[in-house]
Parts: sequence; C-alpha cells; structure tokens
Amino acid sequence: MSSIVILSSSVRNGRKSPQVARYTEAPQPASVIIPFLKECKFSNFEGRLTLKKIDGAPMLQFAEEIKKANGVSYVIPEYNGGYPAGLQNAANHFYTQWHSNPVVNATVSTGLFGITQVITSLQFTLWKIKSWTVPAMFSVPTADKTFDESGHAIEKEATEKRAAAFIPELMWCIEANKRMN
Ligand SMILES: Cc1cc2nc3c(=O)[nH]c(=O)nc-3n(C[C@H](O)[C@H](O)[C@H](O)COP(=O)(O)O)c2cc1C
Repeated sequence: MSSIVILSSSVRNGRKSPQVARYTEAPQPASVIIPFLKECKFSNFEGRLTLKKIDGAPMLQFAEEIKKANGVSYVIPEYNGGYPAGLQNAANHFYTQWHSNPVVNATVSTGLFGITQVITSLQFTLWKIKSWTVPAMFSVPTADKTFDESGHAIEKEATEKRAAAFIPELMWCIEANKRMN
C-alpha cells in the first residue's frame, strides 16, 4: 500500500490548517500520516541534517516519514503573499528526503479567494528540492467557517466538489512513479 504524508505546515496560534489536513486525511486509498509542523519542533536552520545527525525524536520521525512516503500533500496558509517560514525552515533541513516525491498542495485562507498566490513562490522551492508537483490543488477559502474542529466540512457537497481531483491525482502520480522505478 502507498503512503502519503499530509504536512500541516502552520505553526500559528489558533491555526486552521489542521482542520483542512484532517479533512483530506479520510478515507484514502493509502496509509496516511499527518505531521503537524508545530509538534516537530524544528530549530532555526543552521545546517542540513542527515538521519545520523538528528537528535530530537519528533524531527527524526518527521525525516523518516518524509523519506518513506510515496507522496506528500502540503497544507499551506498564506502570510503576506508567502508560505510559512516554518515550512521553508523544515525544507532546508533536509534534501534527499524530499526527492522524487509527487506532491499536491492544499491552500488555506480565511479570506474569500482561498489563496493561490502562495503557490507560485512555493512551486519554486518544490522544484529546487526535486519534488514533482501534481496539477490538482485544493483551495480552501473562509477556512474558519468551512470546517469544524475535527475537520468535517460544514458545506459538505461544495467542499467535496472542490477537493474531488486532489488526492486521486496524487495517487495517479504515485502509481506512475512506482512503475518507473
Ligand atoms: C501574518 C498574516 C498574514 C496573512 N496574509 C494573508 C494573505 O496574504 N492572503 C490571505 O488570503 N490571507 C492572509 N492571512 C489570513 C490567513 O489566510 C488565515 O489566518 C489562515 O487561517 C492562515 O492559516 P492558519 O490558520 O493555518 O495559520 C494572513 C494571516 C496572518 C496571520
């Protein structure tokens, strides 16, 4: 069975991204792990980490989960037009762990437009760490009103429609990737 990491990248107090991460978790045709970046306790970047050099259980677990995953789904808020510094920080700590993973992006905003600007800057970083971006996106506007705390959609039908292609396209790319390796 394939495995997907759904990375909830906000570390902000009162963050809404975990609800979106939980929504995209269930039920999937793959085993799913959700690292919450806040709980991984990354220090500010001072140098790349290899698995041997990591001391700190949550960071080591994070590195191993990313390395083992067949695909990654990022759940990303937009702050002043950019993606969270914590996500860039986590990305910088590793290198090979990110390689060759198909990735999809879910964007989270309390605004009406569900942020898409953030994708252009993140895409550049994904390219640099050799991830493969799947075209499907799940854009979540008004995130504070769209999900309850457990990640259940309040407007179920509309939300399902917006999310429909998201994980299936990731799974398609994971299968294609496996056949080439
Ligand atoms: C510092 C800051 C900057 C923000 N900038 C934007 C922005 O540029 N565009 C946008 O749509 N929302 C912006 N927002 C609103 C976020 O979309 C909203 O807070 C969302 O819930 C963030 O995800 P999170 O709750 O998981 O951290 C900003 C919020 C903060 C705190």
